[in-house]
Amino acid sequence: MNSQHNRSQSQTSILINNGRIITADADYTADIYIEGEIIKAIGKDLQYNADETIDASGMLIFPGGIDPHVHLDMPFMGTYSSDNYETGTRAALFGGTTMVIDFILQKQGNSLQSALDDWNSRATGNCVGDYSFHMAVTDFNEETKKEIRHFVEEEGITSFKTFMAYKGALMIDDRQMIGLMEEVKQQGGLVTVHATNGDMIDYLIAKHRAEGKLSPLYHYLSQPEVTEAEASERFADMANYTGCPGYIVHLTCEGALNAVRNATRRNQNVLVETCIQYLLVDASLYEREDGAKWVMSPPLREKKDQETLWAGINQGLVKVVATDHCPFKWEQKLMGKDDFSKIPNGHPAIEHRMELLYSEGVHKGRISLNKYVEVACTNPAKIFGMFPRKGSIGIDSDADIVIFDPNAKHTISSSSHHMNVDYSAYEGWEVTGKVKTVLLRGKVAINENKCILDKGYGQFIKRNKVNGVI
Ligand code: URP
Ligand code: ZN
Ligand code: ZN
Repeated sequence: MNSQHNRSQSQTSILINNGRIITADADYTADIYIEGEIIKAIGKDLQYNADETIDASGMLIFPGGIDPHVHLDMPFMGTYSSDNYETGTRAALFGGTTMVIDFILQKQGNSLQSALDDWNSRATGNCVGDYSFHMAVTDFNEETKKEIRHFVEEEGITSFKTFMAYKGALMIDDRQMIGLMEEVKQQGGLVTVHATNGDMIDYLIAKHRAEGKLSPLYHYLSQPEVTEAEASERFADMANYTGCPGYIVHLTCEGALNAVRNATRRNQNVLVETCIQYLLVDASLYEREDGAKWVMSPPLREKKDQETLWAGINQGLVKVVATDHCPFKWEQKLMGKDDFSKIPNGHPAIEHRMELLYSEGVHKGRISLNKYVEVACTNPAKIFGMFPRKGSIGIDSDADIVIFDPNAKHTISSSSHHMNVDYSAYEGWEVTGKVKTVLLRGKVAINENKCILDKGYGQFIKRNKVNGVI
């Protein structure tokens, strides 16, 4: 690939020549002309005199990836996730993800606004890539209810996250869930959920601890499939009753997907996200000495669940592949060396979602190229109110573009990754397909494994109202 990046700040236009453009519903070879932050023209043999020309012959061109489930610099389980807004969004760019949606956590007893202020104090001015927030409502009451409208109308935050688990910390009960759903529906938003049965899990954790069963394996055994299947069905029922658009985050297993499938029988459309790890790795990892690396909630499942999720993508039930990136260094994971319930939950993946999904999904023939773009780029933009500005290669869309070499092979390792974590959950994985160049709003962000943008370039993206129809 020939590309010149020696222009100064006066650079305003880029011509990408001869790439194979893949969108959620198209596949063709053409040139893309970018002016400022926006795609201005797409066509064969475009004759623009651009400031910079990139030859993308032999390359695939995707819209910038959108990861709608990440936790950066997040206070959680007595520590903070180890990637901050700078390191996390930069690592995302290296892997072709140009935008992330992070989670603000309301503190129980406090307002949503004070949580937004807190998160802004860590994020504003620190992002390299673009970002937005979901608002996690952990205490729904009459005061919280009054704040929802402001978030939708003024802040451009139109998705509200709930936890049916993490009892005593983040969990809300069904009374609060129903109240929130009614209000969010009225204001034009979407309720998302961590759908596992918090009371059952709380009981099982206490039981295992009382029996002296303290290794990471018991994290897994404290959250059996039924805890997720039950909560997913309950959430779907409540969303159906209230008519509120509902989205289940990090769905992992057959039982939970069948609850969603059942809901389709009454013509309901519950939106489903899975995460890359649930497609690729399984619960046998919990028996390893370093099993804490994969302690996350919900836990990794079985091979049969991986098959269910790949099929769910192709059946159109699973709409999004995210990461739930929530990294902790090994030293932080050791907080739970004597007790699985103290291991900070989460794993690092923000950098490798796009390449792993390409390699394991497209290259191995499990999903099509168009489906790849749909679940990694386009559906997150549609579901969360950003399409066609984001998630698309089209006239007037933001010039968020990934130039991807489908044949380049590389090996994932903590020695070469850019996330602020001292191990990789995919150490030694050989991957086919590599991000070559990334543009974010018309600027070259990544080229040949170097990040060219500085922190502060990443913008907060206000989102539109949504109704669960994509
Ligand atoms: O283990 C996880 N998933 N950590 C992050 C918080 C959450 O539940 O998404
Ligand atoms: Zn969760
Ligand atoms: Zn999460």
